[in-house]
Amino acid sequence: MPDLMVIEESQFPEPWTKGMLIDEIANTENRRYTVAVEKKSLIGYLGLMFVLDELHVNTIGTLPGHEGRGVATSLLDDAWSDAFTRGIKRATLEVAVSNDRAIELYYRYGFKPVGVRKNYYERSMEDALVLWADLAIRA
Ligand SMILES: CC(C)(COP(=O)(O)OP(=O)(O)OC[C@H]1O[C@@H](n2cnc3c(N)ncnc32)[C@H](O)[C@@H]1OP(=O)(O)O)[C@@H](O)C(=O)NCCC(=O)NCCS
Repeated sequence: MPDLMVIEESQFPEPWTKGMLIDEIANTENRRYTVAVEKKSLIGYLGLMFVLDELHVNTIGTLPGHEGRGVATSLLDDAWSDAFTRGIKRATLEVAVSNDRAIELYYRYGFKPVGVRKNYYERSMEDALVLWADLAIRA
């Protein structure tokens, strides 16, 4: 948890609390949390939520200093493999409209914008893009 909180607090303007993350990870019924580890250090994590045959990317973060090295890509590749075995058909997520890095990454996985949630982020009042992907198609 301390390592996870370092990523959370350094990478998100509105970080989840330790309690929120523990609740997420403990919910094994419809959540899947995975981590990327290098030399025994946690350098990335990904949180998914499953609803029927859809998955929601709840959160993804890479430790600062380790970006652009394929950490998020490896986490998403693993998630997509798992999703296929679960019979997941579609995936969705929300991303801040200004988060170009993440949006570029998601587009590679076939995500496409379908709408905007106004003022989605409470502190910044920034809008979120709503993206959906058909898991049969990998961009
Ligand atoms: C978005 C994020 C998870 C990407 O993680 P990552 O481990 O750097 O991703 P990858 O290395 O797999 O890179 C995927 C692509 O994203 C882009 N990218 C990621 N980090 C980048 C960086 N530091 N500089 C430039 N481009 C970057 C590049 O296009 C990269 O492709 P490349 O292989 O050509 O470099 C990471 O930047 C992050 O933690 N951001 C803050 C948290 C966040 O915004 N999460 C998403 C919320 S919806």
